[in-house]
Amino acid sequence: MTNTVFSISSQNTVSPNDIVLRVEHLKVYYATPLGDVRAVDDVSFDVYQGEILGLVGESGCGKTTTAMAILRLVQPPGRIVDGHIWLDGTDVVSLSERELRRFRWEKISLIPQGAMNSLNPVLRVSEQIRDVIEDHEGRQPRKALKERILELLHMVGLPSRVYDMYPHELSGGMKQRVCIAMAIALNPTLIIADEPTSALDVVVQRVVGETLLRVKEQLGISMILIGHDMGLMAQLADRVAVMYAGHLVEIAPVRQLFKTPQHPYTQLLIEAIPSIKERKPLKLTEGLTHDLRNPPQGCIFQSRCPHVMERCRIHPPSLQEVSPKHRVACYLYEEC
Ligand SMILES: Nc1ncnc2c1ncn2[C@@H]1O[C@H](COP(=O)(O)OP(=O)(O)OP(=O)(O)O)[C@@H](O)[C@H]1O
Ligand SMILES: [Mg+2]
Repeated sequence: MTNTVFSISSQNTVSPNDIVLRVEHLKVYYATPLGDVRAVDDVSFDVYQGEILGLVGESGCGKTTTAMAILRLVQPPGRIVDGHIWLDGTDVVSLSERELRRFRWEKISLIPQGAMNSLNPVLRVSEQIRDVIEDHEGRQPRKALKERILELLHMVGLPSRVYDMYPHELSGGMKQRVCIAMAIALNPTLIIADEPTSALDVVVQRVVGETLLRVKEQLGISMILIGHDMGLMAQLADRVAVMYAGHLVEIAPVRQLFKTPQHPYTQLLIEAIPSIKERKPLKLTEGLTHDLRNPPQGCIFQSRCPHVMERCRIHPPSLQEVSPKHRVACYLYEEC
C-alpha cells in the first residue's frame, strides 16, 4: 500500500501444517461487583511452527489477558471460564501447578509488558540467566555454563562484557535483549512478547525487533508478538490477528492484512497509520468501546461500525475464510 512508512515482511513462508499452539473458544473473565468483565470472549486461533503471529488491538481489548491464559498466569479475580489451549500436544488448561513450573520457560516463555524492569537489580546478568537454566536443569559445570550464557548474549547481539554487568549499567534496549536471552535460554517452543519495544526509542526499537527476528530465524522459535505499533507488525509478523473488545475479528498473513483489510475495525486501524508521502486528516471513529461487562447482542463492533446492518444487531458473526488463510468475522462477507 502507498500510505505507509514501513516495508512489509516478506518471509511469509510458514506452512499451516505445523501447528504449535491451538487456542479454541477461549473465554477469560474478571469478576467484579458489577458483573464479569469479559476480557477474552470466545477467541480461537493457531500459531504455526517458526512464525511470528502479531496480536494487535486497542488498549483493553484483551491481548495481555489472552497471553496470560496461554501461560496459565491469569490471577484472581480473573479466571479461564471455558476453552482449550494446546501447546505442542500438551493440554495447557489441565496442567497441575507442578507441571506448570516445568512447562513455563521450557515450553513457553514470556517477555512481559515492561520486561526490562523485571530484571533483579542486585544480580549480575550472568547470575539471572544462570538461575533460569539451573532452576530447570539442575547445577551445571561452571565452564560450560559460562559458554552457554555467553552464546545466548551473542545470539541477542550483546557483547561478552554484559556477562558481568548489573541491570543499572545497561541501556533500555540492552536490558530488553537480556530479557530475550532469558526467554530463549531453555529453547522453548513458543515465546510471547508483550509490547517488547513500547518503552524504547525508535532506533532501539528497530534493534530489538531485529533481535526477535534473528531468534525466530536461527532457532525456529514461534512467537506471539503483542503490540499497538502496526509498523513494527508489518516488519516482523508473518500473520496478524486483530482483537476488538475481547473478540478476534480478523486474522490474515501480514501482506494480505495490510493490503486488503476486510473488517471495518482493521480498516480503521490501518487508515490511522501516519504517512510521510501524503498529508491526510486523521480518520476518527465515533463512540467508545462498550462496557465489557455488558457486551451487545450481535456483533461486538456494531456501535462504531460505519457499515452496520440490521443482522449485525441480532447474532454475532463468526470467523469465516474470505481467501486462503484470511479469516474475518463480519457479515459484509457472508451470504445472507
Ligand atoms: N484485575 C482485573 N479486574 C477487572 N478487569 C480487568 C482486570 N485486569 C484486566 N481487566 C480488564 O480486562 C480487559 C482486557 O485487559 P488486557 O490487559 O488484557 O488488555 P490489553 O489488550 O493487553 O490492553 P493494553 O494494550 O492496554 O495492554 C480490560 O477491559 C481490562 O480493564
Ligand atoms: Mg496489555
